Amino acid sequence: MLARARLSRLPTSFLGRRLASTKSLKETLQEVIPAKQEQLKKLKTEHGQAVVGEVKVENIIGGMRGLKAMLWDASVLDPNEGIRFHGLSIPECQKVLPSAPGGKEIIAESMLWLLLTGQVPTPEQTKQLSKELAEKGDLPAYVEKLIDSFPTTLHPMTQLGMGVAALNHDSSFQAAYEKGMKKSEYWTHTLDDCIDLIARLPALAARIYRNVYKPGTPLPAINKDLDLVGNYSNMLGYGDNQSITEYLRLYIALHGDHEGGNASAHTAHLVGSTLSDPYLSYSAALFALAGPLHGLANQEVLRWQLAMQQEIGSDVSEENIKSYLWKTLKSGQVVPGYGHGVLRNPDPRFIALQEFCNTRPELKNSPIIQLVNKTSEVAPDVLKEHGKTKNPYPNVDATSGCVLYHYGFTEFKYYTVIFGVSRALGALTQLVWARALGLPLERPKSYSMDALEKLVKQ
Ligand SMILES: CC(C)(COP(=O)(O)OP(=O)(O)OC[C@H]1O[C@@H](n2cnc3c(N)ncnc32)[C@H](O)[C@@H]1OP(=O)(O)O)[C@@H](O)C(=O)NCCC(=O)NCCS
Repeated sequence: MLARARLSRLPTSFLGRRLASTKSLKETLQEVIPAKQEQLKKLKTEHGQAVVGEVKVENIIGGMRGLKAMLWDASVLDPNEGIRFHGLSIPECQKVLPSAPGGKEIIAESMLWLLLTGQVPTPEQTKQLSKELAEKGDLPAYVEKLIDSFPTTLHPMTQLGMGVAALNHDSSFQAAYEKGMKKSEYWTHTLDDCIDLIARLPALAARIYRNVYKPGTPLPAINKDLDLVGNYSNMLGYGDNQSITEYLRLYIALHGDHEGGNASAHTAHLVGSTLSDPYLSYSAALFALAGPLHGLANQEVLRWQLAMQQEIGSDVSEENIKSYLWKTLKSGQVVPGYGHGVLRNPDPRFIALQEFCNTRPELKNSPIIQLVNKTSEVAPDVLKEHGKTKNPYPNVDATSGCVLYHYGFTEFKYYTVIFGVSRALGALTQLVWARALGLPLERPKSYSMDALEKLVKQ
């Protein structure tokens, strides 16, 4: 249980919800859904016509940046202070969310519980969820065969997206829909699919890793006593390394959700709004995550930092880093790991990962981590002088892949797959809520340039 002193530092609105019961995840959701349905109904009837912003031509031609146009309950991203999950900041989550036995970092199960229910689970509830996920974690044989049939040169993200889509063979939602279920039952089948998918992601992602990078090595079976990420680390072959396992736990929990407008989350929501099942919806999201401006940035950062390291050698001076940054910018490339679509300050996830590094002497003294840290001190001023990016500060990807690299997990084409395992927590949470709230098909209005010109002249 939480110490009273820790609880007292939490927002009071949260304290009321903290006194969690011993109910299961589904029972807890059953309890919280009616109030949320009521809240939505009220919003619609009492404030349906209220204006919360305006649409400018620059929004339409500028990737809809900043448009308030989506409902997403699990997290809200403030441009200055960063992400909050149901009102809790990252440091608050680190204080209250249960960790794995013997570990210190937040685990995926406790973050998933928080995202789905808005409540902090008890350690017992977290353990129960770990057990459920481990029991459901094995891949069907046909998916194993499918993954094994891919050429090892096929990008791991392509393999992951295809594997996730193929899992829809067993979709509870799709089967029930075909039989003709009531709308009020949508969310329970969606939840069942989401839990099954999250449970199977480690075995799927680890199989891809083994096939591509360690062919012929045996894949350990799922350990029913381990948490989701503990099992993932074990299947990847890093189970004996407590530092990597703990890092993966933190990384996967922190990356779980980043509100709804980012490309992968938004894709899952859009595809899900057609009543496509969670497997197809999340598969589509993974292909959005595979883009270099989104999830692929962590592999790009490492590639870029290593190239910098090679060029400047051991002289990690401000001058050398500065001139490498300018070289990147003058060649017309972006500085990977910097900038953000919403954030206007250093990303608190970057800060949390830096703090993780500071608590471990091997990371503190690692040349690549030291280079990342030094770069994060120099780059903002260079980017400000360059004058293009609205946010010259590091985002989470500025460091995420470099930590793995330090520990010898050097296959950086694989890093986005780990992000993909993580982002399932938030994107799938939204699918459950979209079905529970009866959110409609997403269908914004588009215009041609001619039609826009006409509209502006009116
Ligand atoms: C994340 C990112 C895609 C956000 O894009 P955005 O919302 O369009 O960002 P901005 O509004 O600040 O972009 C304005 C301009 O600054 C440029 N810019 C943004 N970030 C930059 C960076 N890190 N380095 C150089 N230029 C950058 C953009 O390319 C854009 O240039 P343009 O006007 O010539 O098209 C962008 O910052 C980026 O490409 N960062 C590097 C990749 C990365 O780290 N991605 C992971 C995000 S978590």
